Amino acid sequence: MFYVKQGKMPDLRHTFDDRKNLLREELFGEESFEGPYSLLYHKNEPTEVHSIMEKRKATVKPSGKAISHKHFRSLELGREGSFITGRKVLMYNNRLSIGVIQPELPMEGMQRNALSEFIGYIHSGSGTLVSPFGNLRFGVGDYLYIPKGLTFFIEYSKDLSIFYMESADRIGIPQRYLNIYGQLKEGSPYYTRDFRYPLLEKPAHPGNGKVFVDYGDRFIVEDRKNSIFDVVGWDGYLYPFAVNVERFSPIVGKLHMPPPVHEHFCGKSFMLGTFLPRLFDFHPKSVPISYYHNNIDVDEVLFYSTGNFMSRKGIAPGSITVHVRGIIHGPQPGAVEGAIGKKSTDEVAVMIEAYDPLNFTEISEGVEDTGYMMSWKK
Ligand SMILES: [Fe+2]
Repeated sequence: MFYVKQGKMPDLRHTFDDRKNLLREELFGEESFEGPYSLLYHKNEPTEVHSIMEKRKATVKPSGKAISHKHFRSLELGREGSFITGRKVLMYNNRLSIGVIQPELPMEGMQRNALSEFIGYIHSGSGTLVSPFGNLRFGVGDYLYIPKGLTFFIEYSKDLSIFYMESADRIGIPQRYLNIYGQLKEGSPYYTRDFRYPLLEKPAHPGNGKVFVDYGDRFIVEDRKNSIFDVVGWDGYLYPFAVNVERFSPIVGKLHMPPPVHEHFCGKSFMLGTFLPRLFDFHPKSVPISYYHNNIDVDEVLFYSTGNFMSRKGIAPGSITVHVRGIIHGPQPGAVEGAIGKKSTDEVAVMIEAYDPLNFTEISEGVEDTGYMMSWKK
């Protein structure tokens, strides 16, 4: 990400200004001491934990159904649990978990993900992510990024609905959007100014009590007497952020542009893109929707948020389709004929290309449109 500095801190890192009121410096960094990081200045020692215990966590159960192209109606999963306990994983592989969160209850305590980065697309509702970096407000159309290892609490509205992905690998900005100086290039679909970072103000949560450290098959539950949201200053390159999809300027062309032009974020094991309202291709004989394609080494996941999804039959807001490697896909019968002559689209959809094959979960079976695979049959 980009350099941000706010609040109070010593002029020189790893030093102190006031021996009687020592600030506790915490390095929050990835890839040991080599990757992106921030330095945070706490009033309390962030290491102090008053008790610790372990709690088993429900693990995902694989689906027994055959692999094929899938369509899930995710909103039919309904509201359940909290942001911590209500995650509905629909598909996963060794590096990624993908699903939805539609919480019914507030968070039981704070959370920290030990094993994964989080990115969520806010389909409905709003909230505030509270962390040692400050308060970060988010709403519809935002991507909310939570780095691995961040202690956070989220206050949210009753209608919060998030399509999310957890990734074992870093979630970052595509290298081709950056110049050699690390700045977003002219011609990139978004700009540094579009990113919102947390603000150091009165924290919207006291920062003490339980922290549920998500460790895959278990939670490590810390109990803290002192606040961890006690930071008076921080600077660096690694922090949670929100960015709205409306800030992304779609790249259009004379002929059909392939999905990589819609790329928003990437990592070692995935690409995440956003399909947004845009003008279609301007060649007089262009076919404005995608051609049939055979993604021989990716599984392609799409979450449909709003708009008219003209290349897909039976798709509604909250729908998730998965087009798996090994089976050709593309427009359904009649879609190409219907698209010719159209000038624009108003769709908003999130796409994830998973580089390792995805497995489906038992939960996904409950909201599957079982006729989807045969929707290409005339
Ligand atoms: Fe596709």
